[in-house]
Amino acid sequence: MKVILAKSAGFCFGVKRALELAEKTVEENQTPIYTYGPIIHNEQVIAELENKGVTVMKEDSAPDEYPAGTVILRSHGVSREVYESILSAGHKIVDATCPFVAKIHKIVDDNSGKDAHIVIIGDKSHPEVMGITGWVRGENVTVINEKADAEAFFVPKGKKVCVVSQTTYNLTKFQELVEIIKQKGYDITVLNTICSATEERQKEAAEVAHIVDAMIVIGGRNSSNSRKLFEICSAICGNTVFIQKASDLDRDAFSSCETIGITAGASTPYNIIQEVLLEWQRKVLTSC
Ligand code: F3S
Repeated sequence: MKVILAKSAGFCFGVKRALELAEKTVEENQTPIYTYGPIIHNEQVIAELENKGVTVMKEDSAPDEYPAGTVILRSHGVSREVYESILSAGHKIVDATCPFVAKIHKIVDDNSGKDAHIVIIGDKSHPEVMGITGWVRGENVTVINEKADAEAFFVPKGKKVCVVSQTTYNLTKFQELVEIIKQKGYDITVLNTICSATEERQKEAAEVAHIVDAMIVIGGRNSSNSRKLFEICSAICGNTVFIQKASDLDRDAFSSCETIGITAGASTPYNIIQEVLLEWQRKVLTSC
């Protein structure tokens, strides 16, 4: 059996940067330290930070329910309202919003300020999309995730439309939805804000999925980019599994495979990928 590990598997630039900022904040001993929501979709990393005294501030609670401290914003970013509520509760902010996400905040802020209607292609329940939505001025915003949403989209004639995307969105789906909106004849500006790290990871995952008998996607249960990788790979390779950690590997799933591909979402630490590789060797290779 042969294993092909996708080169782009694991932490992206934005997640790496957020974790480095969290470590730096811990070193500077700026207690109490919070992350606004879990810093990444990875339970192991969150537990390690908790051991170093970093508390997860719950997104459904008010920042003033917590003693004043330092709040680290994760790479997904937050809305203007959340940002201001953290400051007005007396906390300091360490802004680890990924610069690519911050750029989208600026685009929607500027364009909605010029009265354009903002369309965000993405999942409206995803924190990144909620954050982007929160930088739109006024009510000029629609989140589109499905073909039916795009078909139903309507704004009055003469209104400008500015389309952006969740950074981790599937490129093909983005293009399909944009095409439907374009056909409506609006004065439309489309900005493909899908992160190149995501595009690269998705492209590479698809390439690997084409040449293997089975594909393993490693990622957190709530990680949207990992789930998208799973969607892409399983559409190409019927024997694709989604796992969170090495112990989730099922030996039987690979018994008749000659080549296995492995990829991982942007919030998967390198040590988990290594553990999966070792576990795979232990469980699968030793059984052949
Ligand atoms: Fe940033 Fe792209 Fe990662 S937007 S958080 S570098 S997936």
